[in-house]
Amino acid sequence: MARIGILTSGGDCPGLNAVIRGTVLQGRTVHDQEFVGFKDGFWGLVYGEAIDLDRSVVRGISQQGGTILGTSRFGPYTEPDGGPENIKRALERIGVDGVIAVGGDGTMAAANRLLGDGIPVVGVPKTIDNDLQATDYTFGFNTAVEIATEAVDRLRTTGNSHKRCMVLEVMGRHAGWIAMYSGVAAGAHAILIPEQQESLEQVCEWVLSVRDRGRSPMVVVAEGFKLPEMDEAHSHKGMDGFNRPRLGGIAEILAPLIEEQTGIETRATVLGHIQRGGVPSAWDRVLGTRFGQAVSDLVADGQWGQMVALRGTDIVRVPFHEAVGHTKTVPLDYYRGARAIFG
Ligand code: F6P
Repeated sequence: MARIGILTSGGDCPGLNAVIRGTVLQGRTVHDQEFVGFKDGFWGLVYGEAIDLDRSVVRGISQQGGTILGTSRFGPYTEPDGGPENIKRALERIGVDGVIAVGGDGTMAAANRLLGDGIPVVGVPKTIDNDLQATDYTFGFNTAVEIATEAVDRLRTTGNSHKRCMVLEVMGRHAGWIAMYSGVAAGAHAILIPEQQESLEQVCEWVLSVRDRGRSPMVVVAEGFKLPEMDEAHSHKGMDGFNRPRLGGIAEILAPLIEEQTGIETRATVLGHIQRGGVPSAWDRVLGTRFGQAVSDLVADGQWGQMVALRGTDIVRVPFHEAVGHTKTVPLDYYRGARAIFG
């Protein structure tokens, strides 16, 4: 019987537990596989810290947010105790034949490197940001969009009551998928994404035209959006190496600027980790389960170095190198289509 280890790495994401359950049930029912779960991402792989995953452990977990295994941004090549030799020793010690890495771009890049160093590994794509190139959608995105859409709907009623402009910041460091989908779904008057620069003047023009029609303006902004006027002084490098706005979030930079330029009272809300926590949507549970089942099949076929992905309605297999290194950004045409009706 093959003994396989699963790890979840990077930021958590609604649907991770559905992947774990789908993998374990498929592996135990259809294939001759048993599973362990590494604790806290690559940390557990490096130190051989794992728990047995039998049917009773995965029972009823699809509807739970987060990951029952824990996660971290621990890098297998960046930490002093990491590296392939230590990992091989850990795998041998706990008797694991192969690894399933569930994570985003960084996780797939690390998995690709581990493969090159002789560790049998396959992947499952994960990010609420939906910015992974090789797959049409990632689980977690749908839940995040639902939560963000509800937030816009709620902000609209309080904004209307006070005749205020409301600015909502959603996640999306490199791509504005959550902002686009929630903004379009909730009928925002402006959607600002990292892929497309808009000037403060343009944003204020949209805001004023909404006010002139007697409505309260609603702006949705992705955290990675920058005004052309913003310079390095407005951002700082976080502990994870990513640039983040210095003064809270971009919404907190934008709101006072809009208020100053338009004379309309403006409030900022940063949705933050609320869009990543909690119960996954049915759609994310289904995609997570399908990915989990497919990755167990991948292992059974010995297709190391591949990642499962969604293309149209089909689950396909793609080599790691096709999945890493490119951010799937919102297409310009799509943005232009939405922008045509801003304001
Ligand atoms: O990559 C997913 C993501 O949710 C980004 O949109 C966001 O910038 C980041 O994670 C936040 O990460 P952390 O939880 O480490 O602050």
